[in-house]
Amino acid sequence: MKTTELIEAMTTGHNMESYEQTYASFQWEEGEKAFSWYKTGKVNAAHEAIDRHVESGRGEHPALLYSDPDRTNQYTFREVKEQSDKFGNVLRKLGIGKGERVFIFMPRTPELYFSFLGTLKVGAIAGPLFEAFMEGAVRDRLVDSEAIALVTTPDLLSRVPHHELPALKHIILVGGEADEAHGFYSFEKEMDAASSSFEIEWVDREDGMLIHYTSGSTGKPKGVYHVHNAMLQHYQTGKWVLDLQSEDIYWCTADPGWVTGTAYGIFAPWLNGVTNVIRGGRFSPEDWYQTLAKNGVTVWYSAPTAFRMLMGAGEEPIKQADLSKLRHVLSVGEPLNPEVVRWGLKAFNQRIHDSWWMTETGGILISNYPTMEIKPGSMGKPFPGIQAAIIDDEGRELPPMQMGNLAIRTPWPSLMQKIWKNKAKYEEYFRVEGWYISGDSAYRDEDGYFWFQGRIDDVINTSGERVGPFEVESKLVEHPAVAEAGVIGKPDPMRGEIIKAFIALRKGYEASDELKEEIRLFVKEGLAAHAAPREIEFKDKLPKTRSGKIMRRVLKAWELDLPTGDLSTMED
Ligand code: WT7
Repeated sequence: MKTTELIEAMTTGHNMESYEQTYASFQWEEGEKAFSWYKTGKVNAAHEAIDRHVESGRGEHPALLYSDPDRTNQYTFREVKEQSDKFGNVLRKLGIGKGERVFIFMPRTPELYFSFLGTLKVGAIAGPLFEAFMEGAVRDRLVDSEAIALVTTPDLLSRVPHHELPALKHIILVGGEADEAHGFYSFEKEMDAASSSFEIEWVDREDGMLIHYTSGSTGKPKGVYHVHNAMLQHYQTGKWVLDLQSEDIYWCTADPGWVTGTAYGIFAPWLNGVTNVIRGGRFSPEDWYQTLAKNGVTVWYSAPTAFRMLMGAGEEPIKQADLSKLRHVLSVGEPLNPEVVRWGLKAFNQRIHDSWWMTETGGILISNYPTMEIKPGSMGKPFPGIQAAIIDDEGRELPPMQMGNLAIRTPWPSLMQKIWKNKAKYEEYFRVEGWYISGDSAYRDEDGYFWFQGRIDDVINTSGERVGPFEVESKLVEHPAVAEAGVIGKPDPMRGEIIKAFIALRKGYEASDELKEEIRLFVKEGLAAHAAPREIEFKDKLPKTRSGKIMRRVLKAWELDLPTGDLSTMED
């Protein structure tokens, strides 16, 4: 599938003059010069993101512009430093320090960000959880990580099975009552009592900073472990991909429960000293355009599903908003349709720049740069310092236009350093010597642009959120009516893919629309809304291997009317 369609570079690139020249000469060490660690040898990403700017005289610059339907707040870098220092003291008072896991299960409010930074400041490892997670998803993550403390709200607390979590000693409630004898603390009370004089914990570059859980095709979600050194990539990609400059107003629409919401919703903007817009509440086209307009957003990082929903909302809400400040727009998480790129040009005269990376890669690896021509539908070219290739299963590099495994030469600063407590899973990514195997298939064209083709495994990407079919299947079979379940991703024009479940019922249960709805709600309320199947189909029997594994590949072929391939391992 070759295209000659090109969108010229527009004059929006400030920080990187020529991609080719930069790519040829760049060394990661260059970026370190921006950090105070370069001079002092003392490392902590929260210091570099916040405190450094206060020390260099930028303390009164706005760091965080917050709004949700009920609340608007502004905090300068000095104020964010103060709040996160105080939270560091709150954790220290509880005896929490280096290497311990502090999880944050919060709606997107400023307190989430103060807690996150404060956690890093005592050298602990932060684990942000998406606020839509239900009990099952929360339990899995807190059990696996053995978190010692959790920051949450009274509302969300009902989804935290704390009696089943022996490692969890302290629950800090934002907007809630203390009951210290039972390990419950009031965030407000502790923050009021905490001193703002604080000594940050200096760590090693290779010390843990962050765990994000993500799904594979088998097993429970895995804890992807990132270290402080990742900040180098966050800073440098913020500079060259987001093209951040000191007076920018930047908005990343992702929640910190997902890696985009930390790497590019916390680190990249603040490491670059830039004002970060944070908006709580649900998606609404009118409100999103107003968020851009009212804050005067200049750089905007979002995702294909959101762009498609905005496209679907038509031109009227765009006309109501002044988007004249907007100068640079980016996308990540799923394939960005050429049609959406064309719409962006027409609707607000901006090229939407696609970028590719994963939870495991910790930062952007392939993307379209402001100074580069865009080929709509392509993910772009490797970031300077990154060597990307298409390889076959034996590790041989394939020539242009041949599809294969998208692989990256190891290492780079933000590459995950562990899968928490799961060495075998970690090693699977590095099964070919010298390479990180992404699990995506792609090809490279003659001009060096990369084109995404799909996942190699069964992982589903619905609205940019990664869902493991196994997790959903496990939840489904907990329902009393479900004997067996197989889950696949079904192509969908708005969401990229939707989750479809094939279900064989237990004896005595009748197929009905009511039962479908009941099962759907069961997953939604037990796991998360985005993991609930939008379509359910009942079958008498599911295709299985003789060893009893559900053959998702066959389900997918049935669904899409494709040839089913080799069926020799299928039971009769
Ligand atoms: C998977 C990673 C880290 C960003 C948020 C998603 C898919 C990511 C693109 C893109 C096509 C993309 C891949 C990847 N993906 N970016 N530009 N075009 N697909 O992180 O949840 O770890 O998912 O998202 O399949 O492997 P994630």
